[in-house]
Amino acid sequence: MSFNIALLAGDGIGPEVMFESVLLLKEIEKLYNCSFSFREGKVGGVAIEHYGTPLPEETVELCKRSDAILLGAVGGPAWDHLPVEIRPETGLLQLRKQLGLFANLRPVKVIPPLTKSSPLKDSVIMGVDLCIVRELTGGLYFGTPRERRIGLEGEEVIDTLVYKRYEIERIVREAFELARLRKRKLVSVDKANVLESSRLWREIADALSIEYSDVKLEHMYIDNAAMQLIKKPIEFDVIVTENMFGDILSDEASVLTGSIGMLPSASIGNGPSLYEPIHGSAPDIAGRNVANPLAAFLSVALMLRYSFGLSKEAECIEGAVHSILLEGYRTKDLADEGKTFVSTSEMGALVRDAIQNKYLDYELVNFYEKCR
Ligand code: IPM
Ligand code: MN
Repeated sequence: MSFNIALLAGDGIGPEVMFESVLLLKEIEKLYNCSFSFREGKVGGVAIEHYGTPLPEETVELCKRSDAILLGAVGGPAWDHLPVEIRPETGLLQLRKQLGLFANLRPVKVIPPLTKSSPLKDSVIMGVDLCIVRELTGGLYFGTPRERRIGLEGEEVIDTLVYKRYEIERIVREAFELARLRKRKLVSVDKANVLESSRLWREIADALSIEYSDVKLEHMYIDNAAMQLIKKPIEFDVIVTENMFGDILSDEASVLTGSIGMLPSASIGNGPSLYEPIHGSAPDIAGRNVANPLAAFLSVALMLRYSFGLSKEAECIEGAVHSILLEGYRTKDLADEGKTFVSTSEMGALVRDAIQNKYLDYELVNFYEKCR
């Protein structure tokens, strides 16, 4: 079994975590019966430097011809002053749009050895296992008009939150399907007490829930959801929400896991899927070999499972990550007293070593059960 992977390392810590991810995949090749070929493309600031645009056509073509896409991160202060059309972030947003990646899955699973890395109490976060399904190609991020202009009362500015019915339907359906594979609990997050788009969102979710009567649907306002997420996160299974709400909630949810450096994501549409850590390019620590590569590794695991059907291999990576954390190794972002701090490359080497012990995952499952 052979798979083509497009590598878009991007900016900041992107290249560092990407480099380690490729080494990890090469290790998987050695242990299992699969092979990967890698082709690199540019997106974000690095593409601006080379092509004068954050998303060159050849990058889009490369992605379309791949079985899956692995992305590092985009953005940095060097490009912050640029007009919006050529900002690095626009490259990422356009890539999502052009590949039709409308569903962004952000699993949030608390790893027991990391509970001390979170500012929240053990009793609040222990056992948390939820998934945010974020709409990714519509809503406030893409609506037009979006501009500054001169109106009757002087300068004004407008962003637009627009959704087509089918866009809401397909993302909510995706979330119902996912809930079916999990604990059959879906919370649809909106602001239906204020926004017209949310009222249609709610109506559509209610209509679909007739078809998915085996899934328990609940509606929650975004402000309340933000509170519940840190108050009683254990109550959540699948959360589905609008693009901007999902962006905000997922950064908040990362606090449950100990660090934003732990959260992977999968963006899914009709073509090849894209996998990326939810963290940004972290320009302040870029190039210093201190970034946490684990969100990237867990994104690799999602890619193996969802795009290639390699679930054994995916579990092997997840098991290796868990075992290294259990042994007490931490990157700097996972501050925790008495633990051994390691660099990006050391963490990479430790995880590569650990995947040799394929049996570890089973043992860890038992360990977690005892922790509960
Ligand atoms: C994310 C990021 C992006 C987003 C930025 C970099 C445009 O924050 O993937 O969550 O807002 O979607
Ligand atoms: Mn974000």
